[in-house]
Amino acid sequence: MNDFNVNRIREDFPILHRKIRGRQLVYFDNAATSQKPLSVIETVSNYYKTLNSNVHRGVHFLSDEATNKYEEAREKVRSFINASSVNEIIFVRGTTEAINLIATSYGNSKISRDDEIIISALEHHSNIVPWQMLCERTGAKLKVIPINDKGEILFDEFEKLITEKTKLISVIHISNALGTINPIKEIIEKAHSRNIPVLIDGAQSTQHCRIDVKELDCDFFAFSGHKIFGPTGIGVLYGKEKLLDEMPPYHGGGEMIESVSFEKTIYNKLPYKFEAGTPDISGPIGLASAIDYINKIGIDNISNYENKLLEYGTTELMKIGDLRIIGTAENKASVISFLAGNLHPYDVGTILDHQGIAIRTGHHCAEPLMKRLGISGTARVSFAFYNTKEEIDLFITALRKAIKMLK
Ligand code: ALA
Repeated sequence: MNDFNVNRIREDFPILHRKIRGRQLVYFDNAATSQKPLSVIETVSNYYKTLNSNVHRGVHFLSDEATNKYEEAREKVRSFINASSVNEIIFVRGTTEAINLIATSYGNSKISRDDEIIISALEHHSNIVPWQMLCERTGAKLKVIPINDKGEILFDEFEKLITEKTKLISVIHISNALGTINPIKEIIEKAHSRNIPVLIDGAQSTQHCRIDVKELDCDFFAFSGHKIFGPTGIGVLYGKEKLLDEMPPYHGGGEMIESVSFEKTIYNKLPYKFEAGTPDISGPIGLASAIDYINKIGIDNISNYENKLLEYGTTELMKIGDLRIIGTAENKASVISFLAGNLHPYDVGTILDHQGIAIRTGHHCAEPLMKRLGISGTARVSFAFYNTKEEIDLFITALRKAIKMLK
C-alpha cells in the first residue's frame, strides 16, 4: 500500500479532471462502467492509427501484426485470470453475451425438459433472462437461492435446492446492486460434489479482487472489459476446455469454420469456434492494456484501498439520520446502496448530479432483488481505486443538501 498514490493515479484518468456544471466531477458510478486510463485510450487510438486490419485472414504485414496483438491479448487475459490455456478464453461483447452463449450453446445441448438450473435472488437481469429463455425453449425449470435481509445467500437453502435434476448453477460473484460478495468457492465445491457445473458472473468482481479460475475451479466465468477500465463492447467468457470442446457453436459464419461445403461444415477448433465473423479487434487489445494497468497498480492494492473507501463511505453515510443502507452483508465490495427517508432515489440522484456527483439510481437491472427487499430501487454509489475520501466528503455534503431541499 505504501506506493499506492491515489493523486498520482488520478493523473492517468483524463475524464476525472472534467468539470460538470462548473464543479469537479465526482464519479461514483463505477459499477455501471469504469473510467479509462490514458494508456488504454491511447492503445485503442494507436490501433486505428497504425495497425487497423482484419485478423486471421490476411497475408499482409498489418494483418499479421494485428493478429499477433489480438492473440497476445488473449494470452494476457489467460494469465490475468490464471486459465490453463488460451483455448479457454473466448472474446465476446461482454458478460451478457457470455451468459447468453452458455445458456444457448451449453443449455440447448445439455439441458432438457424438467432439468433444473439454479441461480440466486441477487442476480442481475443478465443472469436471469437467458435462463428463462432457455427454460421456455426446453421445459427446464429455474430455481432461485433465497437471501436474508442483509442481502446474503442462504447457503442451507441452496443445498436443499440441489437435486439429481440440477444441470447448472449460475451465480453472481459480487452483487452490482448491493455489493454482497458471494461465497463462490463454497458454492462451486458443493456443486462439484454433485457433479454440477458452475458459471460465475464476474462482471462486478474482476475489477475488485484477484480472480484465479484454476483455484476457484469454476467451469465458466464471465466478465466485461468496460468494468475493468477497458473499452466497451469487449468481454470474456472463460470455460474449461473440455466443456467448451463438447459445446456446439453459438454463432455461425466466417472464422468459426475449418471448412464449408453445402453438404457439411466442419467447425474450427477452440477458441475460434465461438468467435464467428470479424471480431472486435481494438477491444481485446484495449482490454490487454487495461490489464497491464491493473497489474501495474496491483489488484491487492486496489482491493485494500477500495475496502478503506467502503468503510469510510459506510461510516459517513450512517451519520446521516433517517438513511438506510440497503445491503449490509458481512462480505462486501465497494458498492453502497441506500435510501434517504422516503425520498425517491431518482430525485436524490438528480440533485447530486447538479452538484457534479454521478451516482446510479433505480433497480440496477435487478428487479426481482428489489422486489425481495420490498423496495422499487435505491440510490447507489460504487467506488473505484481512483476515488478518494475527499470525494466521499463532497458527496456526503451534497447528499445532506439534497435531503434538506427535498424534505
Ligand atoms: N450492471 C450495471 C450496473 O450495475 C450496468 O450499473
